[in-house]
Amino acid sequence: MLHSSVTQFQSISPSERGERHVLVVGGAGYVGNVLIRQLLSLGYRVRCLDALYYPTGNTIAPLMDNPDFSFVRGDLRNIDLVRESLHGITDVVLLAALVGDPISKKYSDLTREVNGTASRRLFTELAGRGLKKFIFTSTCSNYGILEGNQPATETSPLNPRSVYAETKVAFEEFITSQSNATDFSTTVLRLATAFGLSPRMRFDLTVSEFSREIAMGRELLVYDEATWRPYCHVVDIADAIIRVIEAPADVVSRQVFNVGGNENNFTKKMIVDELIKRVADAKVVYKAGGFDQRDYRVSFDKIRAALDFEPKYSVPDSIEKVVSCIRSGFYCDVEDNKNFYGNYVVTH
Ligand SMILES: NC(=O)c1ccc[n+]([C@@H]2O[C@H](COP(=O)([O-])OP(=O)(O)OC[C@H]3O[C@@H](n4cnc5c(N)ncnc54)[C@H](O)[C@@H]3O)[C@@H](O)[C@H]2O)c1
Repeated sequence: MLHSSVTQFQSISPSERGERHVLVVGGAGYVGNVLIRQLLSLGYRVRCLDALYYPTGNTIAPLMDNPDFSFVRGDLRNIDLVRESLHGITDVVLLAALVGDPISKKYSDLTREVNGTASRRLFTELAGRGLKKFIFTSTCSNYGILEGNQPATETSPLNPRSVYAETKVAFEEFITSQSNATDFSTTVLRLATAFGLSPRMRFDLTVSEFSREIAMGRELLVYDEATWRPYCHVVDIADAIIRVIEAPADVVSRQVFNVGGNENNFTKKMIVDELIKRVADAKVVYKAGGFDQRDYRVSFDKIRAALDFEPKYSVPDSIEKVVSCIRSGFYCDVEDNKNFYGNYVVTH
């Protein structure tokens, strides 16, 4: 754990939480599964709208007994369904997207439709409903390749290197262009690459992928090992989103925050070194010239100052946990259910 101290952040009261009804669009995914559980445990009412592009419905099923939870299966591109889903909602968290460079390259038209057109249509539906907060999960991938040694801040130039990041940057720009005219608070969260265990586990993300490969005794091929990237645990990401929901509007409205912690900036080699400490016979091959040239370190000073947000989980903690889970045989079905554990094929 990075920090075990209790946060100084002033949360809202339990009764206020009970009056909020949060629509989590894309809640059946890796981040959404953790966020929804955290919201429910705090006393929020939650509705999840998800098209189940990946076969993750069984992660949501156990929530159906909770009277504060409801699920709508449907596509963000279906505006009638979106309108129905917004009924009685006080806050919207937009997670739904084609997430990651490989899937957005494979389904570039669908990515532009979902991450672009449909997301904009949702946003324009929100006015006049008495909504409190709209939170958009963007990505630190927007920084792409950063020249020089300084970590990226929220005002650093963006350098999207994929359809995924291009659509995220475009939607950020759209929100910024609209936010003077909205009657609700809008916040952009640029998330670091996620790690950690979730009911919808993803093994197509660096920390978990590397940990699983090594724990299984396979040879790990690592491209461009000196490249930097920031990481953040899914539980911490959910905590950051909830802090925005609970913060006074004047602290978060029309703001962009990087979400992560300064100590969780790692090169790929640093992640491998942590793994080697735990798995003595780890086999690793390094290679230059991978197609993913992203290389960026990120500063998380702004979210720490504004929301007293500091991640509780470190990358080494999570490596330890994933290795232990693999060795315990918890994830013995990954090869048979590839599309549950990663974003490879979309069903829509
Ligand atoms: N996972 C990361 O490392 C990471 C890093 C930075 C930012 N983010 C952002 O966080 C958010 C969540 O990421 P995740 O890892 O949970 O992704 P995920 O792919 O696990 O989940 C996305 C969910 O959205 C749903 N969805 C997609 N398109 C939809 C549509 N048109 N209609 C309804 N539902 C739809 C999918 O079915 C899926 O359940 C995304 O916006 C992503 O860009 C994630």
